[in-house]
Amino acid sequence: MTPKKTILRALAGEVLPTPPVWMMRQAGRYLPEYRATRAQAGDFLSLCYNPELAAEVTFQPIRRYGFDAAILFADILLLPQALGADLWFETGEGPRLSTISTAADMARLKPADAIHDHLAPVYETVRILAKGLPAETTLIGFAGAPWTVATYMIAGRGTPDQGPAHAMIQGNRALFQQVIDLLTASTIEYLSAQIDAGAEVVKLFDSWAGSLKGQDFHDFAVEPARAITAALKARHPGIPVIAFPRGAGTAYEGLHAAIGADCIALDDGVTAEWAAAHVQTGGCVQGNLASSHMVSGGQDLIDETRRVVRAFSKGPHIFNLGHGITPDADPENVALMVETIRNG
Ligand code: CP3
Repeated sequence: MTPKKTILRALAGEVLPTPPVWMMRQAGRYLPEYRATRAQAGDFLSLCYNPELAAEVTFQPIRRYGFDAAILFADILLLPQALGADLWFETGEGPRLSTISTAADMARLKPADAIHDHLAPVYETVRILAKGLPAETTLIGFAGAPWTVATYMIAGRGTPDQGPAHAMIQGNRALFQQVIDLLTASTIEYLSAQIDAGAEVVKLFDSWAGSLKGQDFHDFAVEPARAITAALKARHPGIPVIAFPRGAGTAYEGLHAAIGADCIALDDGVTAEWAAAHVQTGGCVQGNLASSHMVSGGQDLIDETRRVVRAFSKGPHIFNLGHGITPDADPENVALMVETIRNG
């Protein structure tokens, strides 16, 4: 019998002698081979919707580093586009979308189950990956969490403080709840289709969860993640779910139980030592080396990698960065991190 994949073992709660490792944004601009394939595709969105090339960039970091997981190459903003929002990327600035500020804007969006034709190329990418990955590599599908996707749909772009979304919560909570409900329902559809196509784990990226506090954190970060996780597990018994409410801080405590997720991913705003005592007690954790070490490297990278491994060594752990690797990272530093995790 082939041994179960390391990522799946950690997600099932097993404490492994060496934590499995992958990196957020592991297919990205820090890699020359990614830049070449992206140029071949033309632009970022064309790359996302080209199954052969999207699969190719997903394979690249697996070939180079032998990561334990591959994450589908796509973007969290493809879902709002499938719902009918306009989406484009301004060079050097990031994403732009048509905005939602009224009930009429909301009414123009499609229903949750109408997304699949638009997203068919993504499902095809998943199928290519499921066939082509090494036997020991776990395939992770993903979506943005409803709150984070809503912040882009309401503002029409990334914002430092998610001001427009918070303003809608203040001014028209019922309308905001409709946005969240549509995103929750369509995210269940989207992830369910990724699982049908071969994703073995799914991850919810809530990059802006840190700006939600108190009741809003519960209603717009915890509750949608709980509802998505419950629906996916009902449709696909045993499917592991990773939730990443980035910036949750002390609110990371208790989230395994509150969301029903198999793993809580941690950013580097909490220390590994604190998280081992307060979050890992609830189940598997993922994280949380500061991604700046992929730029700076050296002995600090080695020391910090060892510290994170050691801090989480008594419970189930998947090694990752605290956020995505940045374009200015040195590929050699990634190799050094992987070597340090695997060989001490
Ligand atoms: O982790 C992975 O490698 C999987 C693929 C992935 C991408 N984006 C590819 C991407 C995933 C999981 C995402 C998630 C995503 N996308 C998030 C949540 C996670 C996070 O990073 O906070 C958000 C907020 C987005 C929206 C988005 N996409 C922004 C704000 C940007 C522009 C930022 C930038 O670096 O230019 C993107 C573009 C994007 N998504 C790139 C990649 C590799 C860079 C595109 C390029 O120029 O090649």
